[in-house]
Amino acid sequence: MEPAALSTQLPEEPNRFIGRERELGYLRDALRRTRALTLCGAGGIGKTRLALRLLATTAGDFADGVYAVELGDLWEPDLIVSRVASLIGVDGETGRPLQDTLADALETRQALIMLDNCEHLVDACAALCQRLLAGCPELRIVATSQEPLRIPQESVWQVVPLAVPPPDAPRDAAELAVFEAAQLFADRAAAARSGFAITERNAVAVAAICRALDGVPLAIEL
Ligand SMILES: Nc1ncnc2c1ncn2[C@@H]1O[C@H](COP(=O)(O)OP(=O)(O)OP(=O)(O)O)[C@@H](O)[C@H]1O
Ligand SMILES: [Mg+2]
Repeated sequence: MEPAALSTQLPEEPNRFIGRERELGYLRDALRRTRALTLCGAGGIGKTRLALRLLATTAGDFADGVYAVELGDLWEPDLIVSRVASLIGVDGETGRPLQDTLADALETRQALIMLDNCEHLVDACAALCQRLLAGCPELRIVATSQEPLRIPQESVWQVVPLAVPPPDAPRDAAELAVFEAAQLFADRAAAARSGFAITERNAVAVAAICRALDGVPLAIEL
């Protein structure tokens, strides 16, 4: 069954995306060589934002669209396939496993699917990925997960914290801003309290907070 023309479906980014330029370069490159790329790392480290950014900046390479499928709220492994199918716009067929219908629909498609937050459904995500990759030669998958999917095609990318200023970091605001954690702090602090900026007076404190929070974006935002 031929689905309607596929189109890009990405959620809007909630706020400014900070840094990760070098990682994005490596990841875009990796995506040309691997068909299953998993961004791994602890909760709140920035896997989802990085993956969404990767999708947004590689969308042009996928003639049939890029899709971000959120799985964080799903607890029933059987529902993964229907969530993917419904986002892409593929209807089930009576008497046929939905994953077969989905694989047929994507068979000749040059698409990229992101499976976000796979950690609680790793086995089911792994099985679906293998089925789709086997049946759809042009398809690529980006997963985010606290642990790898452990499928043969997988390349794992460990997401690291944002760069934090060292203890002897300069007090100069512009110099501190080369550290991504400080940039994120400044951006979110300015959103919470208008007019906030890193100055010579608060630079040491900002740097210390970023270090104490280990550069974990979720912790910095809180
Ligand atoms: N590079 C970034 N620029 C701006 N904000 C970021 C960046 N990375 C992460 N954040 C913010 O930090 C928070 C945590 O990031 P994210 O949701 O991507 O982490 P995660 O690793 O996917 O977490 P989880 O394991 O809980 O799914 C989010 O609010 C996100 O918007
Ligand atoms: Mg996430």
